[in-house]
Amino acid sequence: MESKNTIELFEQLDFKENPFYEKIITNLVDHQYCIVDDFFDLEEVAMLRDSLKAKFEESQFKKAAIGNKTNEVVAKSIRGDFILWLNEAEGGEAEKLFFTKINSLVEYLNKTCFLGILTKEFHYALYPEGTFYQRHLDTFQNDGRRKLSLVCYLNEEDWKPENGGELVIYSQENDLEIYKSIYPMPGRVVIFESQVLEHEVKPVKTARLSITGWLKTR
Ligand code: OGA
Ligand code: MN
Repeated sequence: MESKNTIELFEQLDFKENPFYEKIITNLVDHQYCIVDDFFDLEEVAMLRDSLKAKFEESQFKKAAIGNKTNEVVAKSIRGDFILWLNEAEGGEAEKLFFTKINSLVEYLNKTCFLGILTKEFHYALYPEGTFYQRHLDTFQNDGRRKLSLVCYLNEEDWKPENGGELVIYSQENDLEIYKSIYPMPGRVVIFESQVLEHEVKPVKTARLSITGWLKTR
């Protein structure tokens, strides 16, 4: 009979360090955020974008609200996006692909960082022309379980800086506030610490497509 220690040893031997994920972790530790280009390749982005658009055209999206579920207020002056929550069990091909990649990252984080990610929630988001999301912290919705925020951009391949909609992340360095402006390039994923970094979405000039979500602890 194998002892528990033997099994644990085999599990450790089975573990392979993944340089792509290791870079994400290093960046998160150093800066509390991380920009990952080509997390999704352009074919995957196209599948997800098509799925988002189809669901938007079928009017499945609703105006995003602020506050928690029991205290929901639609406040256009704060955020102007339309969202649709994803249900992992009911997704089509595009959503299955999406969750396969996310789950693989979560599994790696849990193995190597002891983050204890237990649940996740993701929604499609569409910002129509002229909309924005004012500076905020993702835990203001009374959800202290949100550990990491992930934003995955699904814009067209010919997306240009003039289209606006930059994500601006604010952080503190030696008592000085600094900010980083990030373009929503297709395939790009931005990951940041939900409880720490305030951020905003600048006014959008051409409809802006994404999936936003949170990895949560108990
Ligand atoms: C959010 C958010 C950022 C983005 O939905 O809470 O901050 O770049 N999104 O879409
Ligand atoms: Mn946010």
